[in-house]
Amino acid sequence: MIRLAFRVRPADAEIVLAELVDLAPTGVEETDRGDTIEYAIYGAEGELPSLPSVRALVGDALVEVVSEEVADDWADRWRAFHEPILVKDRLYVRPPWCPPYAEVAAGDGDAVTDLVVDPGQAFGTGAHATTRLCLELLVELTDRRRDAGEDLGPVLDLGSGSGVLAVAASQLGWGPVHGVDNEAASVAATLENAAANGVAVTAARFDLLRDGATAMPDPDGPEPLVLANLLRPLLLRVAADGFQGAPPHHLIASGLLVHECDGVAAAFARIGLVEAERRSHGDWAALLLRRA
Ligand SMILES: C[S@@+](CC[C@H](N)C(=O)[O-])C[C@H]1O[C@@H](n2cnc3c(N)ncnc32)[C@H](O)[C@@H]1O
Repeated sequence: MIRLAFRVRPADAEIVLAELVDLAPTGVEETDRGDTIEYAIYGAEGELPSLPSVRALVGDALVEVVSEEVADDWADRWRAFHEPILVKDRLYVRPPWCPPYAEVAAGDGDAVTDLVVDPGQAFGTGAHATTRLCLELLVELTDRRRDAGEDLGPVLDLGSGSGVLAVAASQLGWGPVHGVDNEAASVAATLENAAANGVAVTAARFDLLRDGATAMPDPDGPEPLVLANLLRPLLLRVAADGFQGAPPHHLIASGLLVHECDGVAAAFARIGLVEAERRSHGDWAALLLRRA
C-alpha cells in the first residue's frame, strides 16, 4: 500500500481539495503542517493517480509530493479518518466498524436514526462538509414538509456515490428514491448500502455530462426532490440540461465553494429554481433551491 501525499500552500488548500475530491472519491486525509497543508491518499501501486495528472490539477499550489510505502497499520489509519457524524440529532452516519449511536450516546440514542455507510470505492461517508451540508438541509426540509402536512414523495440523487444521501432520504420517509452516478462502483455501493440499512433505493449508471436531462425511473410520477452533491461544472450542466418529467419542487445543490454560489444559483434560477437558503461550512457551501 502506498501513501501519496501532496503538500500545498495553505491559501490554496480548499481549492486543491475541491479538485482532489474527484480524483480520490473515497476520501483524502488532511494534515495541517503549519507552512503547508498535506492531503494524502492511499492505494495500491498502479491505482493511485499519476503525478502528471495531479500536477495538472493542482498546478502552482503544489509545494511537495511525498510517496511512501505504508506499514501494516495503514488500514487503522484509513479507518481513523472515516469518523461518524451526528446530523441535527436525527441521523448518525457511521462506517460499519464504529458502534451505533445508541451504544455511545449518554442520553436517548434510540431517537436517532442509525445510517451505516461502507465507503468502499465510492465517495460519501457523511464526514465531508459537502455531504454534511446536504444532510442538514435534507433533515430540515423533511421536518418542514411534515409539519406542513405535505407528502415527502420521490427523491432523485445525482452523483449518489456511496448512496449516503439516498439512504438517508429513504430512512427519513421519502420514496421512491433513485440514485444515479457515472461510476459503476458508486451504483454498486449505493445498492449495497441501501440493502445494509434495510431501505429500498434503486440506482443506475448515468453520465450527467453525456446523457442529457435526468429523470426519475417513472418520469410521469410526482415532482421529486433532487439531491445534487456535485462540483460546480456538473451543477451548471444539470441546470443547463434541466429535467425530464415533473420538475423538482426542491433541489439541494452542494459541492460548491462559497464564491461559486452566486453563479450556480443564477443558472438554476433560469430554469425556475430559486434560492431559498444558503449554508456554508469553511469554504464549502450548499444551496437549497425551490420551484418559483
Ligand atoms: C461529491 S461526490 C457525492 C457523493 C454522495 N452523494 C455524497 O453526498 O457524499 C460526487 C459524485 O458524483 C459522481 N459523478 C462525477 N461525475 C459524474 C458524472 N459525469 N455523471 C454522474 N455522476 C458523476 C461521482 O462518481 C461521485 O460519486
